Amino acid sequence: MPEKSWIQSRKIKERLRTKFIGQEIHHFAKVTSTNDVTKELAAKGAKEGTVVISETQTLGRGRLGRDWASPEGGIWFSIILRPQVDPKDASKLTFVAAVAVARILREMFNLEAEIKWPNDVLIGGKKVCGILTETSTKEDVVDFVVVGVGINANVGLDSFPENLRNSITTLKKELREEIEREGFLCALLEALEQYYTVFMGRNFDLIFEEWRNLAGFLGHYVEVVSFDEKTRGLAVDVDRDGALMIKLRDGTVKKVISGDVIVQKRLPL
Ligand code: BTN
Repeated sequence: MPEKSWIQSRKIKERLRTKFIGQEIHHFAKVTSTNDVTKELAAKGAKEGTVVISETQTLGRGRLGRDWASPEGGIWFSIILRPQVDPKDASKLTFVAAVAVARILREMFNLEAEIKWPNDVLIGGKKVCGILTETSTKEDVVDFVVVGVGINANVGLDSFPENLRNSITTLKKELREEIEREGFLCALLEALEQYYTVFMGRNFDLIFEEWRNLAGFLGHYVEVVSFDEKTRGLAVDVDRDGALMIKLRDGTVKKVISGDVIVQKRLPL
């Protein structure tokens, strides 16, 4: 445990009102990626709810093989989940995590946090949180899912690479002060456990409804860039498998399963 650590596992445990998420916390000053450390622990049999947090990551990973900048001051953590669901449904845990983060940002700080497909949490159109869900299966059954969450918390924009500074924000910038990360983490782990329990109760529709309520980009014109293809149209909905439904100029609806959404509210079709 690093000396001037913001996380004191003992203090967190005293405050945390969860049954399993965060009941075991591994804390590091520096790791390559909390998702990688967590996957190793999970493969060795670590129990559901185990959390790995690090002050910084040297090889933080984002979606689509991208790097994820993880300066000190942020909240970079991953959780082991062992849901008994069809492997194709495991990626829906991204929705569970996005809803929990957006809800807690709204409740604790009164911030107008929104979700952008598939897994970004934004404030004022700028990304404050990203989620990376990775599933491991054994004989076509889910062995474990690692949900990695990165939140730009007590950190200034100047700590991030220059090319990101226009598209991201941080809690410190939005609130003009630093947050108390332990309290925030406890609230977030509690919300994650609640939403996960709803998910495991096969009530995904409830999560989905909440996700839709928080998805500010729905009903706007967007451009979706996926691999080498660009799709422009009206973001009408997301189907139950998580695919984005785009209404094209000719009135047909196209489903997109992966990519980046750029919201272009005034783009003429
Ligand atoms: C994205 O938006 O592309 C996903 C970013 C996920 C970042 C988090 S930070 C904690 C965990 N460890 C990683 O290497 N990535 C995730």
